[in-house]
Amino acid sequence: METNHHHPPGPHGLPWLGVTFELVKNPLGLLERMGHEYGAISEMRYWRGGRILLNSPELIEQVLVVQHQKFIKGVLLRLTAQRLLGQGLLTSEGELWRRQRRLAQPAFQRARIAAYAPVMVRLAAEQAEEWRPGERRDIAVEMMNISLRVAIRTLFGLEMKSEARAVGEALTAIMRRDLRRLRSPLKLPPTFPTPANRRAENGYALLEGMVSRIIEEKRSDGGGSDDLLSRLIEATDEEGVHMSARQLRDETMTLLLAGHETTALSLAWTWYLLAQNPEAEARLHDEIDRTLSGRLPTADDLDRMPYLAAVINESLRLYPPAYTIGRSSVEPIDLCGYHFPRDTVFLMSTWVTQRDARYFDDPLAFRPERWLEGPAPEGFRYFPFGGGPRRCIGQPFALMEAGLVIATLTARFRFRLIRKVVPEPLVTLRPRDGIPMVVEERR
Ligand code: HEM
Repeated sequence: METNHHHPPGPHGLPWLGVTFELVKNPLGLLERMGHEYGAISEMRYWRGGRILLNSPELIEQVLVVQHQKFIKGVLLRLTAQRLLGQGLLTSEGELWRRQRRLAQPAFQRARIAAYAPVMVRLAAEQAEEWRPGERRDIAVEMMNISLRVAIRTLFGLEMKSEARAVGEALTAIMRRDLRRLRSPLKLPPTFPTPANRRAENGYALLEGMVSRIIEEKRSDGGGSDDLLSRLIEATDEEGVHMSARQLRDETMTLLLAGHETTALSLAWTWYLLAQNPEAEARLHDEIDRTLSGRLPTADDLDRMPYLAAVINESLRLYPPAYTIGRSSVEPIDLCGYHFPRDTVFLMSTWVTQRDARYFDDPLAFRPERWLEGPAPEGFRYFPFGGGPRRCIGQPFALMEAGLVIATLTARFRFRLIRKVVPEPLVTLRPRDGIPMVVEERR
């Protein structure tokens, strides 16, 4: 194909500012509109420059897999997550990333993860003990509570009182403030004492305090434990040197946040979807009741509940917690007939592609059956966990946790929706103002 040096098509917006206003006000709507109107490749221009949206499985595969050496993580993740995650597994590059991924990988093998199943079930059941039929709960917070305790117990080997509400609020404040600063040309210094800045700075302090406490507790428990954090503390490089305190802090923060927030969101969105789709909910109840006959689920039970797996897949299709994945080119690249210089930023949006009628029939309908009727969708029309060498290390962990938590809670409860929920696209796809629901006992 002949290389075209012009820009891909895209929304015009204003001179210099481009689509800045729309990006600040309605980023999901903007991405959707671009995918819908321009198809496989389009460009948005805003005050920081251009961003290329790729909305075709073949192009996404080129960037994440085939030509992955030509890219590093996107500027959005680097700028928003640098202070929080530093050089942790999600954000580091090159040799450092390779080494840390090798160290962490054994903790995510199937057999290891199956051993976490009883903890996942116990912590979900414990959380539900607090619920009274008829009461109103923010299901997003309840799910954060479960997944935060699961992550701390399984990855760090600690039992800590859950601080999920505070952690959730800290993350929201940080993401809201930092993303707004990134998307908007008008900004005050982060230390200027506005309420938004104060909330974000308090959020950073809370998370730093929590990570320091986790590392301190771990160091003082005498070593010899077999959890991921102990292994990272004990690991040495070829010269026998331990990880620096800074690196350990970065990995702990990364695992703490990546290990609980996305899974909690996918659980919360799943309850939200089930509450609006009573037929799917009834079919799920039936499968879980028949399989478990009133006992608690195990890892092996998950293989016997295909509809449950389909519900989770379908929820990750419609409400993918990682709603965009970004990459920056480190060398010039030709894609789809266009020539892009180095430092071009590419966005691949699970939200856009997984809701595109070219790739899924009746794309906005919640229909778990689609996962049981035909072969699984091929290639990068569905990629909630990314792809290529940087694909999510925690995918089996997240899928097992989601399945076990849903099976444990469904055995006793269902949740009724009180009001419509608006997704808020921060670094992850969060429900603005939570998901308040009424807890009902099933029997
Ligand atoms: C439903 C839940 C989850 C979703 C949707 C999700 C999604 C993703 C995605 C899309 C990526 C790739 C990002 C990119 O390529 O830029 C990623 C990476 C990562 N995820 Fe997950 N994730 C989930 C759960 C988890 C869990 C439970 C853990 C840990 C226990 C985890 C740890 C990580 C780490 C460490 C990376 C970076 C991997 C690397 O670059 O080597 N994630 N995740």
